[in-house]
Amino acid sequence: MKVFSESKQIREPIAACKNKQEKIALVPTMGHLHDGHIALIQLAKSLAPRVIVSIFVNPLQFNQENDFTAYPRTLTSDLEKLTALDIDAVFTPQPIELYPDGIELAPKIIIPKLTAEFDGEFRPGHFDGVCTVVTKLFNILTPDIAVFGNKDYQQLLIIRRMTRDLNFNIDIVAGNTERESDGLALSSRNSHLSAAERARAANIFAILSQTKTQFSIQDIPSQEHFGTTALEKIGMNVEYFSIRDALDLQPINNTTKDIVVLTAAWLGDIRLIDNVLFPIG
Ligand code: PAJ
Repeated sequence: MKVFSESKQIREPIAACKNKQEKIALVPTMGHLHDGHIALIQLAKSLAPRVIVSIFVNPLQFNQENDFTAYPRTLTSDLEKLTALDIDAVFTPQPIELYPDGIELAPKIIIPKLTAEFDGEFRPGHFDGVCTVVTKLFNILTPDIAVFGNKDYQQLLIIRRMTRDLNFNIDIVAGNTERESDGLALSSRNSHLSAAERARAANIFAILSQTKTQFSIQDIPSQEHFGTTALEKIGMNVEYFSIRDALDLQPINNTTKDIVVLTAAWLGDIRLIDNVLFPIG
């Protein structure tokens, strides 16, 4: 496994793969790797002979400076985990290469509509930052396949839309959400929860699962109300708890085939997001 911190170093090995017609799968991450990331990397390995993992804590996608500075940076242990996975390359760019004039002057990729609600509403500018950095990674690393998690479901849909609309010749593949044994979705933010908060956090998946089990096409607002109040009862501050068409996050209509129940809620100072996906029938 080779570690590259400059794009000019990685261009030649990528060109060599292209010459040999070896497909490249990319897994973009912000590091602090957990088993959710590892599952995406295993999926990438099953899809292409060459796998690149990028690690970059992207300043452009954080709304608050302290959230960015507090984001865990664990490159040494991340590289140990990646070595054990036997991937081809890790790309760890420096901010100066991606944002030569700083983030204020960076050109931005903006995907309308899909970014208007949910995390786009509560974290203004977040998805512009995500789309901009993923575009840069796509341009530098020119993967054939890129793997993203269903855990960040709105992000996944936005990346799919961006890939289509900017004519990237890249297959976007989704990986399942990896969970703790009590159902809590793995996230780098979980380590910030107190023991009491951690115990309560398991209710998020339980409530999402109950909403899925009880789902009926009739009276969706009251099912959303059920989820919101159930989370509030365990002391969570709910930003949204919504039942939508999994294709485009629009309200369910008579063409809907798959449903996503998605939520974001705060437990103390920690913002957690999760979702469940299921077919309507
Ligand atoms: P990060 O939070 O590091 O997540 C990297 C990838 O891991 C994303 O595709 C995310 O959906 C996936 N992931 C996170 N938790 C998961 C879980 N429990 N199970 C399965 N997959 C999981 O998402 C980002 O970084 C950034 O926004 C990025 C796309 C790298 C752009 O900066």
